[in-house]
Amino acid sequence: MTAQLIDGKALSEQLRKEVATRAAALKVKGITPGLAVILVGDNQASQVYVRNKVKACEDVGFHSVLEKYDASMTEAELLARVEALNNDPSIHGILVQLPLPKHIDDHKVIETISPAKDVDGFHVASAGALMVGEVGFKACTPYGCMKMLESIGMKDLRGKHAVVIGRSNIVGKPMAMMLLAANATVTVTHSGTADLGAMTRQADIIVAAVGKVDVLTADMVKPDAVVIDVGMNRNAEGKLCGDVDFNGVKEVAGYITPVPGGVGPMTITMLLVNTMESAERAAG
Ligand code: GUN
Repeated sequence: MTAQLIDGKALSEQLRKEVATRAAALKVKGITPGLAVILVGDNQASQVYVRNKVKACEDVGFHSVLEKYDASMTEAELLARVEALNNDPSIHGILVQLPLPKHIDDHKVIETISPAKDVDGFHVASAGALMVGEVGFKACTPYGCMKMLESIGMKDLRGKHAVVIGRSNIVGKPMAMMLLAANATVTVTHSGTADLGAMTRQADIIVAAVGKVDVLTADMVKPDAVVIDVGMNRNAEGKLCGDVDFNGVKEVAGYITPVPGGVGPMTITMLLVNTMESAERAAG
C-alpha cells in the first residue's frame, strides 16, 4: 500500500490566492494589511525564514516591514520597537523572529506584542483564547496542520483518535488544543512517554513534532492512519527530512505529508491568513 500525499505546496498556493483576493477587497476600502517582522542578530536560518515571510507578504499584496537589528540591541530597545508597532495603525501583525540573542528575554518580548497583532499566536492571551475557544490568533504551524486535515475531508474529528508527538508551546500543545476543538480524542506524547509505539499504533491521526529523525517508523503506524510530519531536520547525508521515516511509513499510512513540501509552506501561509484576519478585524 502507498499513502496519498497531502501536498502542502499546492494547498498553500490555493489559500494564498484566497488571501490575495481578500487583501484586494480590503484595499478598496483604503486598508492594506501590514506585517512587521523583526529580526535581531545574524542567525542564518532566521535570515532565510524572515526573507521568505516578507516575500510571501509581497506576493499577496500586503505591506511588509522588515526591521533588522544588530545582536547588540538591548531588550529595552526591542521592547520599545514592539510598543511603537503596537501603536502603528498601518501594521496589523507583529512577528519577532525567534530565537533571540541570549541577553533578551523572549517571553517578555512576546508578552509585549499586543494580542490584537500577535499573528504568530505565541502570546499567553492567544494560547488562552485557543484553550477556552475564544477569538484569538492560532499558532501558524498547528493551524496549517488543521487546514491540511480539512483538505482531505477531516474537519470534524469526532470519533477519531489523534496522537501528538511533542509538547512544545509553539506546536505540540496548540496542536492538541486545535484537535480537541475539532472533537478528536487527543493523546499528547513526549520524551517522558514510556512506549510511544503503543500510543501511535492506536492513532487515526499522528502529528510528529519533535525535531528528530525517524521518531515515527512503519511499525508504529496503524494501516490507513493520517500522518502529519512537522519535523525539519537534516539526515546523516545532509538531506532535508522530517521526523517520520517517510519511505517506510508511506507503505502503511493512508495519507502522509512530505518534507519538504508539506507542513513547511503551510506555516507561512497561515501567518498570512492571521495577518489578513487581523486587518479585517481592524477594519471592523
Ligand atoms: N522561529 C522559527 N519559527 C518561528 C515562527 O514561526 N515564528 C517566530 N516568531 N519565530 C520562529
